[in-house]
Amino acid sequence: MSKIEPENIKPEIMDREVMVTYPTEAFLSKDYLEAEKTLLWPKIWQMVERETDLPNPGDWMTYNVAEESVIVLRKDDGSLKAFHNVCPHRGRQLVSVPDMIPNPHSVHKDHVHDVRGNNRKSFVCGFHGWTFDLDGQNTYILDPQDWGEGGLTKEMTCLSEIKVDTWGGFIYINMDPDSISLKEWMGRAGEILDHFDLAGMHYKWRQWAIYPCNWKTAIEAFLEPYHVAGTHTQLLAYGDYYALSKQYGLHSVSSYDTRESKFKMAESAGTTRAGKGDDPRVSTYELIKENYETVNFSASTETLVKAASRLKDELPETATAQECIAHWIKSAKADDAARGVIWPEVPPEIKAEGGLAWGLWPNQNILHGETFALCYRVRPYGDDPNQCVFESYALERFPEGEAPETEWTYAEATGENWGSVLAQDFSNMEFVQKGMKSSGFRGPLPNPHQEQKVINLHRNLADWMEGRGAVTLVHKN
Ligand code: FES
Ligand SMILES: [Fe+2]
Repeated sequence: MSKIEPENIKPEIMDREVMVTYPTEAFLSKDYLEAEKTLLWPKIWQMVERETDLPNPGDWMTYNVAEESVIVLRKDDGSLKAFHNVCPHRGRQLVSVPDMIPNPHSVHKDHVHDVRGNNRKSFVCGFHGWTFDLDGQNTYILDPQDWGEGGLTKEMTCLSEIKVDTWGGFIYINMDPDSISLKEWMGRAGEILDHFDLAGMHYKWRQWAIYPCNWKTAIEAFLEPYHVAGTHTQLLAYGDYYALSKQYGLHSVSSYDTRESKFKMAESAGTTRAGKGDDPRVSTYELIKENYETVNFSASTETLVKAASRLKDELPETATAQECIAHWIKSAKADDAARGVIWPEVPPEIKAEGGLAWGLWPNQNILHGETFALCYRVRPYGDDPNQCVFESYALERFPEGEAPETEWTYAEATGENWGSVLAQDFSNMEFVQKGMKSSGFRGPLPNPHQEQKVINLHRNLADWMEGRGAVTLVHKN
């Protein structure tokens, strides 16, 4: 007899902002983590790396998620190719990828984010020497006659190719040959973010850690601004953080909102907004400066902070919040133009719809502006639902040729490494993971207005996980 799964809610129901809940198995269950290995990770479009990390022919890198390892490379004609990182002979990883944190039983003693290199012409398996070209075709087998005449075919001895595509300057892969295209996958979220030209930005910094919570617990800590008042209490001195959130099918957006008139997404609903207080010339500067400096110098730029610092000198006391924002943006744009950083022209209605930050399902977050983006990615780590690979990185638009050289840096989850605001987020995540295990926890009660991105994460997961962890109505009628 087949088990009848509870019915997962539909997006239209979510839009009515009804009360919902979902079970904790997606965060806690080993069995669920095992199921993700077959139902989720090999079936979805997922971000591998920035395109600029593989600029030249022969550049290559590995990407690991759950049990899967993938090789992505750039060919001579400039196109990208991706293969499963496995030799078709007897299954050795073609490129050895040690565990991300040093395994005490392994000879590898370093943290390994990924394995990469340049000038590749071929891949040679370390076990019996089978060799493959950059199209994945086999070019050498020792003693092929031993398999008999016609025994080994081209199809049997080539690498297993997978889909690769790019969006926003990111490389994405999908291991499912039957998947929809990346463009379709990104949908309206992709169209909106295209206006911000993420492809023209470069890494400012990039860090990673192994963190003690499920990957969903981690990404959810950065999906909604509802936690700002409780977690980042110091930020309340400068602004209000009431938020709205909205599903866009797979993906979802959040934005600052006002309690008085809900759903009014304003052009200043993102990071470039006025601070609170009597003098918006002063408070706008205080808000942006505090945010920038305590979020590891991201989610804004030095140009924006400096331009805000001049508001008091450049505008009269009578300036309204609106006038402050308009002047601030105009002068920051001019300052950037003078140093060769040209802002993309984002139509006001797109800016409004684009809001503050996007959750790109399932494991990528982007808080965007015209000249910066603060991003997160999480992946499961090992076979433990209580661990994840946590990554955060800042992108910025730099003058031509002036982007800094960066690489993935392993950074323990401390305030010194990540800034005081992220340290506050870290101080919750581990204990959400623990708290959800309490027999006294009746299940999540996400805010239907402000935490829809969290709800939408689970709604989509349930769709992919054959109904497991379904999101259901709290009040049935
Ligand atoms: S497993 Fe690769 S050549 Fe044998
Ligand atoms: Fe936070």
